[in-house]
Amino acid sequence: MQFAARLDQLKPGVFSKISALKNKLNSAGMEVIDLSVGSPDMPPPPHVKEALIKAARDDTKYGYTLTEGIPPLKQAIANWYQKYYGVILDPERETLNLMGSQDGLAHIYWAVIDPGDIVLVPDPGYPIYHDGARLAGGVLYPIPLLEENRFLPDLSKIPPEICQKAKVLILNYPSNPLAATATRAFFEQAVDFARNHHIIICHDFAYSELSYDGYKNTSFLEVPGAKDVGVEFHSISKTFNLAGCRIGFAVGNPRIIEALRLVKSNIDYGGFRPVQEAAVAALEGPPECVRQNALAYQKRRDILVEELAAFGWNVVKPKASMFVWAKLPSAFFPSEKFATRLLEEAGVAVVPGTAFGQNGEGYVRIGLVQDGGKLKEAGRRMGEFINKNQ
Ligand SMILES: Cc1ncc(COP(=O)(O)O)c(C=O)c1O
Repeated sequence: MQFAARLDQLKPGVFSKISALKNKLNSAGMEVIDLSVGSPDMPPPPHVKEALIKAARDDTKYGYTLTEGIPPLKQAIANWYQKYYGVILDPERETLNLMGSQDGLAHIYWAVIDPGDIVLVPDPGYPIYHDGARLAGGVLYPIPLLEENRFLPDLSKIPPEICQKAKVLILNYPSNPLAATATRAFFEQAVDFARNHHIIICHDFAYSELSYDGYKNTSFLEVPGAKDVGVEFHSISKTFNLAGCRIGFAVGNPRIIEALRLVKSNIDYGGFRPVQEAAVAALEGPPECVRQNALAYQKRRDILVEELAAFGWNVVKPKASMFVWAKLPSAFFPSEKFATRLLEEAGVAVVPGTAFGQNGEGYVRIGLVQDGGKLKEAGRRMGEFINKNQ
């Protein structure tokens, strides 16, 4: 058998490696606390579950929905954007439902690049940005996201010949894995940059509703001119704890939305109707459950960060996202070795920063995906591990 050469460009996901080691340790009797995968552990709001169950009981809801998605969902997406971000969208031309934002982030490249085109990706960045571009034949130009720039790209440092050839710029705030946020001023700069260089911006806003201490995330589309140059991707997975249901959406520039719709209409037949109806209930439902969800993550963040501090490991408290991007104490071993030994010796699974790009060296990503008790225990184990090995 012969397989496609493009497979050589895909490395086995770090998550499967961690998961294999975690399973081995669990079967050997170690009680591993898994903070590696960003899958929400809390339940969806009751009214969302009810909508899903009600629709699933109806025999007429099992047919193909087609890429279009159901009209009430398009309307609910537009209403939600107007209500929470003040952004006006045409439900028909400027929204597209997705089978998770990952669906859109993977397939957008097939709509906007040709083989050999340059794609500006964040480093560190969420893996689909790199892998999706590679699968479509794109050439990656990683933009370093450094602490000294508050993890924002310095667009002025991108060489003019790269700007000229680049087709797409990927942004993600609040970001995974960095837990960094973007200001409106930064998005204004990015829109100017995109306009000047004829570059399409794809902003991944998966963690839009997870923010803490009264902070509110900014939508890229709030900035004047953003809709002329780009689109924003949303994940209903994180906001409403529906990760396994596979639902999300893209909004923004109607030509980009139409191009993505065309690609997808040749690939899929749309998501499960009861899931789309649950998404309508979620978007149209009371905002209180969304705030409660964020508050739960905020409490978890505090427990973890404070426990680590008690052992002398001071990490930045993020304003948003569901992760802590923890800088390893200086003179410690590299992040991959740190993560492996932490798992083997202390039974805590985290992701090495290098899994997200070379600028992730010196950091690990800790997911706030367990309850407070487990996070406190994980913090204690991590603190003791650091002290033992320093
Ligand atoms: C930054 C970011 N974008 C997109 C996704 C994909 O989410 P989904 O496909 O469930 O909407 C994730 C999932 O962890 C993520 O962290």
